[in-house]
Amino acid sequence: MTNPPLPRHVAIIMDGNGRWAKQHKIRIALGHRQGVETLRAIIRESSDLGIEALSLYAFSTENWRRSPDEVEALMGLLLEFFTSEIDELDQKNVCIRILGDKEGMPEKQREALYNAEARTGKNTGLKLNIALNYGGRAELVRAARILAEKAVRGEIRPDEIDEAALADALYTKGLPDVDLLIRTSGEMRLSNFLLFQCAYAEFEFPETLWPDFSLEDYHKALETFASRDRRFGGRKA
Ligand code: FPP
Repeated sequence: MTNPPLPRHVAIIMDGNGRWAKQHKIRIALGHRQGVETLRAIIRESSDLGIEALSLYAFSTENWRRSPDEVEALMGLLLEFFTSEIDELDQKNVCIRILGDKEGMPEKQREALYNAEARTGKNTGLKLNIALNYGGRAELVRAARILAEKAVRGEIRPDEIDEAALADALYTKGLPDVDLLIRTSGEMRLSNFLLFQCAYAEFEFPETLWPDFSLEDYHKALETFASRDRRFGGRKA
């Protein structure tokens, strides 16, 4: 089992579904479907371990550029996930939050997302954040607008705009910074995910493709995190 200290906030870029499907000579949609199985297991494990927050990059603002078939498959899986998992997640006291622009999602999915947030909003267990129609730069622009509008209304003075005020205008308001970011499949990029929140994150880039990412791989990443020497720009005494 994993030794402390556990990260408070784990973020995951679930990469490699397409390559996994190719390896298995099956349709990409089936790679994503297998990816959902991994996602279910990782959510359950994070909740059981007592991790405070888990943020998963499920669909970026750039992912709309994929083929209509693939986008449709992902939207279908999303709806299926929120319909079939909501009871169990609620029972496990998981609090779901969507990071990203829900208004830009298709109607059925949008309804399911609002419903999941409303139903689990008061839960006090794992804070499960699912990034959908999300982009980190767009999130920062949105935050700047929120603060500018507040300033225009006279609710905040420009000199009161500090890091805490900006953090409060992000989708992740109230959550701790990301401690550990995991991106599977060997790619080493942030791809516009949680740019502000990852300022002091530790990074792990396992080679495993997301559908193959096991609980053992997850524990390994958590153990490596526990052995890291985090200084946040300072020096160790
Ligand atoms: C990256 O793999 C993965 C995605 C773009 C989507 C991740 C989505 C899921 C795991 C399922 C849907 C989410 C929920 C919440 C039900 P890729 O296709 O870019 O892989 P590749 O780089 O090998 O092509």
